Amino acid sequence: MLTVDNLTVAFGPTVAVRGVSLHAEAGAVTGVLGANGAGKTSTLLGIHNQAPRRGGRITLAGVDVTGHDTGALVAAGIALCPQNRRLFPNMSIEDNLLLGAYGHPRKVRRARLARAYDRFGWLRDRGAEAAGRLSGGQQQAVAIARALMSEPKLVLLDEPSSGLSPVAVDEVAAILADIAHDGTAVVLVEQNVRLVRHLCDTAYVLAHGKVAASGPVTALLRDSAVSDAYLGTVH
Ligand SMILES: Nc1ncnc2c1ncn2[C@@H]1O[C@H](COP(=O)(O)OP(=O)(O)O)[C@@H](O)[C@H]1O
Ligand SMILES: [Mg+2]
Repeated sequence: MLTVDNLTVAFGPTVAVRGVSLHAEAGAVTGVLGANGAGKTSTLLGIHNQAPRRGGRITLAGVDVTGHDTGALVAAGIALCPQNRRLFPNMSIEDNLLLGAYGHPRKVRRARLARAYDRFGWLRDRGAEAAGRLSGGQQQAVAIARALMSEPKLVLLDEPSSGLSPVAVDEVAAILADIAHDGTAVVLVEQNVRLVRHLCDTAYVLAHGKVAASGPVTALLRDSAVSDAYLGTVH
């Protein structure tokens, strides 16, 4: 579904991503691991044209979308669920969700909202509440639901488990498994190795802006050279 070929992202003199190539299949969760500062967020932002791309090619379902602006990428089927969720805490849950279908006719937005409420039943009666009043796990669910409002072929998630309780992490895991099960491609940036082990067949390990290792998650995590050098405590 997604092919990233030799992506380079630089903020002025700081080269955050140095020739990263990766592939994500429909119906699977592809993991991207790595320490703080490894270039995970910059990779996702580079794919979504929200960070300065200095080179590389992005292909979605065989279509070259390199250089398309973020709105066009969303329309083409790439949704981003950003680091720290980025909900509007003072806006209602419903208005946060509707932003995910921004630009579509009212009827379409309403239909997608209904689908979001089908998937996240507990949200249905809480749509008028301020998003900031929800727990961290609930806010993450809303952020994911908002990303799904564009009916993406591919969802990029940036550390969705960050700051959540173990129970909330399990809930996020179930949501992501469900999204992939529906045939969507999911790219999961995480520092939570357990979550990647649980959800992903394939993962990439980033270090200093490069792919330091990639392959089947079981093999990657069994390789102590990889886990010790790039992932910190794993076991
Ligand atoms: N907006 C920015 N301006 C300048 N440097 C940045 C910016 N965003 C990230 N960086 C730098 O790029 C590198 C990779 O950061 P990032 O992609 O956020 O890593 P990660 O998500 O893996 O923690 C870091 O050295 C970081 O300081
Ligand atoms: Mg990050």
